[in-house]
Amino acid sequence: MKLCMIGTGYVGLVSGTCFADIGNQVICVDKDLKKINKLNSGISPIYEPGLEELIKKNFLAKRLSFTNNVKNAINASDIIFICVGTPTKKGTFEVDLSFINQCVKEILKYSKKRKIIVTKSTVPVGTGDKVEKLLKKKRKLFTLISNPEFLREGEAIRDFRFPDRIIIGSNEKKVFNIMKKLYSPLISKGAKFFTTSRRGAELIKYASNAFLATKITYINELANLCEKCGVDIEDISLGIGLDSRIGGRFLRAGPAYGGSCFPKDTKGLVSASNKFKVDLSLVKTVIKSNENRVNLLIQRVHKILGKKLKNKRIAFLGVTFKPNTDDMRDSSSLKMIPYLSKKGAKLSYYDPSGEKNEFKKIKNCSYKTNIKSNCHNADLIIILTEWDEFKSLDFKKIVKNTKVKIYDLRNLYNLKDMKKNKLKYYSVGRSS
Ligand SMILES: NC(=O)c1ccc[n+]([C@@H]2O[C@H](COP(=O)([O-])OP(=O)(O)OC[C@H]3O[C@@H](n4cnc5c(N)ncnc54)[C@H](O)[C@@H]3O)[C@@H](O)[C@H]2O)c1
Repeated sequence: MKLCMIGTGYVGLVSGTCFADIGNQVICVDKDLKKINKLNSGISPIYEPGLEELIKKNFLAKRLSFTNNVKNAINASDIIFICVGTPTKKGTFEVDLSFINQCVKEILKYSKKRKIIVTKSTVPVGTGDKVEKLLKKKRKLFTLISNPEFLREGEAIRDFRFPDRIIIGSNEKKVFNIMKKLYSPLISKGAKFFTTSRRGAELIKYASNAFLATKITYINELANLCEKCGVDIEDISLGIGLDSRIGGRFLRAGPAYGGSCFPKDTKGLVSASNKFKVDLSLVKTVIKSNENRVNLLIQRVHKILGKKLKNKRIAFLGVTFKPNTDDMRDSSSLKMIPYLSKKGAKLSYYDPSGEKNEFKKIKNCSYKTNIKSNCHNADLIIILTEWDEFKSLDFKKIVKNTKVKIYDLRNLYNLKDMKKNKLKYYSVGRSS
């Protein structure tokens, strides 16, 4: 099929590349010319394992191309996927739909014959209805479908190829077959194909993300209790996760949940429900608890190093919100590092995905290119992200300071081993 992805970010680029890889003709469009130029030279603008190789393969096979010319891309395609960002409006919980609206304007302007328009972006329930009204007003021939994306950064290619489910929401039943045909290579490998109304599909996405965010927040709050009552949170996670009604995933205590989806989607769900005059008090509480989590982590740093942080050398291992991605959106490091810098600490960080623009202007904060140079002088090492290369470090070898303390926000190490090695080790929800 001939597809066009408007928005070549984490979702548009990964799904566009993977659609090409299963035999479709795909044009990825982005208004960011730098991104397009990079892609046309075979470089992926994002860090996602396996993506660059897959881009090159499909680009060379002439199934995948990149452009900033939205007009040509729309005209050359039968199905148009909208994959632009839907961030939170500053200072509110409301979803900023300006990128979506801009796409719709462009589709209205340039599409000449009947098109299928698919919203992959996460949009509040009822957005499709509003877009449809606009399109109808201009007498454009189209079918508007909601097909929310569930891929996870860091595992995005696998998630595209082996999704748990493909959700298609439409009020026109006849398009289900077209979408089923498009996704047939994935369905034949076991992906469940679930059809519903367009509103249903829009809401499923928010409901899923808010549920997962709630699970993380719940285990984080239980970790606070464990620290006080001398119970190991890992036992709690396992003990409750073994109940098949609950399931063990998303029950790892750690920093606040972050990333490009959970923080904004929990807020977006509350904002949408307010419009329908429904109070989602549980989700509101989750948002509040998560926002407070960073303060608790900071208090713990004070507990470990004392009230005065001036000239204390703090080294971060990992700053992204999760491993195998370069995405910094809503990572706990974005609040911790500026706070600690204001308190006069001397900060450094190493992240396998490279240096971060977000910290370039932060006082006393330097990027190090490897674990050893980052840690060897540190008073405190904070393990923030669960990258594989942080999982079996010999701290005695990499740190010069024998009094170094380690604050492991991912519980990567065994308490007994750390004690045996006489390391001052602090973790989450475990007596240490
Ligand atoms: N990132 C994820 O893990 C993930 C997972 C599932 C769903 N989503 C949802 O998918 C959507 C996209 O997320 P993302 O992380 O890929 O965003 P992103 O910010 O990485 O990418 C969006 C891209 O769209 C481009 N763009 C914006 N307006 C445009 C226009 N009019 N024409 C052409 N290009 C335009 C931007 O330049 C940018 O490159 C969001 O709604 C998000 O909630 C994201």
